[in-house]
Amino acid sequence: MKKVAVLTSGGDAPGMNAAIRAVVRKGLEENYEIYGVRYGYQGLVNDELRRLKARDVGNIIQQAGTMLGSMRCKEFETEAGMNRALKTIEKHQLDAVIVIGGNGSQTGAKVLSEKGVKVVGIASTIDNDLPGSEITIGVDTALNVALEAIDRLRVTASSHKRATLVEVMGRDCGYLALKAGLTGGAEAIVIPEVEVSKEEVAQVISNAYKRGKTHSLVVIAEGATNNAETLHDYLTTRQDEIGFELRTTILGHVQRGGKPTAFDRMLGTRLGAGAIDALAAEKNAVLIGWQQGTPQATPYETLFEQKKNLKLENLELARILAK
Ligand code: F6P
Repeated sequence: MKKVAVLTSGGDAPGMNAAIRAVVRKGLEENYEIYGVRYGYQGLVNDELRRLKARDVGNIIQQAGTMLGSMRCKEFETEAGMNRALKTIEKHQLDAVIVIGGNGSQTGAKVLSEKGVKVVGIASTIDNDLPGSEITIGVDTALNVALEAIDRLRVTASSHKRATLVEVMGRDCGYLALKAGLTGGAEAIVIPEVEVSKEEVAQVISNAYKRGKTHSLVVIAEGATNNAETLHDYLTTRQDEIGFELRTTILGHVQRGGKPTAFDRMLGTRLGAGAIDALAAEKNAVLIGWQQGTPQATPYETLFEQKKNLKLENLELARILAK
């Protein structure tokens, strides 16, 4: 009987629990013994794992976060940490490890596989910056949480005739900001992939004011050179020029804890089951991602050479529609 460990690593993402549930129950279907590792790679380093059966993953599909706990584990990046993790794997005679997480976590998984461990990754991060998956677990929920906040902020901005700056997460990737800006009806979207000057943002807000708009909404990615703080500091010194009074909201971690949407539950479920299918097909050192409506395996060997591109035409469309 194969012994398979599953862990969640990096930032938690809504839908991770659905993936854990699918790994456990599909794994049992294949007659695997499944072990849950606590707090990502730290649990491998510290030998913290326990057997998971079908009942252990009941009532979690609808919950955000991760029942296993997650961490960005610095110790695992050291030689000593890696050796301790390898010892745990050997001690429990694990045949494979499934790593649910984003870029940093999959990089760790690749290193683990280079040490001779059989590894399969599952694409999960709200940032949507991982190649090999058109969309990753957690993105849809985070986007909808951001959008709901934006809708509310727009209402209050409109009541008070204000400009409102909203910063969303995404690390160095502008995906969430671009999608939230387009679907939230923003006047301006500021993302790391396209430089926008502070003066240009001031101009956009000022033009909206002159056109008689009751509010102006700017959605900013946290990774943009001109992030919300920088723009806020600049724009408050240009109050007369922009017309509107200004308020700024940084959404931050609130975006990560939303109840997983139907899409994220489906994605977690399909990718979790896909990881077990990959192991059953003797695949190794691959990331299971979502491509053209189905789980697909991309080898770690080529994964990190690929670049994930944003659809920048959406930026231009948002600009055209913000009349
Ligand atoms: O990678 C997910 C993410 O939420 C990023 O968008 C954000 O920059 C980062 O994690 C925050 O990390 P932490 O939860 O460690 O503060």
